[in-house]
Amino acid sequence: MEKRENIFLKKSFVAITGASRGIGRCMALQFAVKFPPNSVLVLMARNEEALESVRTELKATTPNIIVLVRQYDQGKTDDEGYFNGIFDSLLTENKLSKDDFEQAMLVHNCGTIGDKEKTALQLCDADRVRSYFDINLSGMILLNTSFFATFCDPTLSRVVINITSGASKVPTPSLHLYCSGKAAREMFFRVLSAEEPSIRVLIYAPGAVDTDMLRDLEGNSSSTPFRKVLNGLRQDGEILTPEESVANLERVLEDNAFKNADHVDNYLLTAKPYIDKFLN
Ligand SMILES: NC(=O)c1ccc[n+]([C@@H]2O[C@H](COP(=O)([O-])OP(=O)(O)OC[C@H]3O[C@@H](n4cnc5c(N)ncnc54)[C@H](OP(=O)(O)O)[C@@H]3O)[C@@H](O)[C@H]2O)c1
Repeated sequence: MEKRENIFLKKSFVAITGASRGIGRCMALQFAVKFPPNSVLVLMARNEEALESVRTELKATTPNIIVLVRQYDQGKTDDEGYFNGIFDSLLTENKLSKDDFEQAMLVHNCGTIGDKEKTALQLCDADRVRSYFDINLSGMILLNTSFFATFCDPTLSRVVINITSGASKVPTPSLHLYCSGKAAREMFFRVLSAEEPSIRVLIYAPGAVDTDMLRDLEGNSSSTPFRKVLNGLRQDGEILTPEESVANLERVLEDNAFKNADHVDNYLLTAKPYIDKFLN
């Protein structure tokens, strides 16, 4: 694949989902330093107060970036039209035009784990299963459609990042919903990439990263072998900080040499010995 220009060099409109905490918050803070002045960063999640606090941090560190907060719930798929026009409205309300930007980027980082206290055969609550896929698959697809309805010009540089997990490849006990959701998302993006070759598609697994999500799994996964994998990684100092993980992602975007819709992994390399020891 031909080498392309560093993705951070273009004046961009960037939306990051799940930006209220964890990897998404860190991505917002670290990406803001990299993009040119007057780029726009849209912070999206449910917790508006937490998003506002990220915006305050950004104002102090990167005053030349325009930071917008858009509260939403990615699980609201039964709300007719909920996802339509989100980005058109953001542009209009803030007196911006899509022509102001050389690049549009959407980072699908929002994610939940699902019923990790249960095994696959204990999943009997239709609402909970449906809700999982609403947040992690259907809502993500609808948001993606909304974004590219706004940024529809194929001559514009367009990038979408699907934050995935090694769990899309490794059948991990207690992560039934998570593994299947992440695997489905990857196939969705491979199809998108086949249909829309002008969109750069990165499918990126950030590694085992010290966030609420990981700590929840370490404490509450119903699978003893999987908890041993995580405990092994923790004891051996193999869990990344969000800052380290996002720095690795930045290198991938700066190099911009990834093959469209290939799974770029930061987890399996480190976790494989632990998976082999405890899960296989
Ligand atoms: N941490 C890891 O080790 C690891 C490993 C591999 C992949 N990942 C992936 O990395 C991404 C971020 O994970 P993380 O560890 O940073 O998780 P986290 O700390 O639990 O953060 C999850 C983010 O998603 C948002 N979110 C959850 N439900 C939402 C909903 N219904 N609508 C909108 N936003 C919602 C949360 O914000 P609100 O609560 O404010 O809505 C929060 O900002 C996820 O896709 C995860 O699967 C993480």
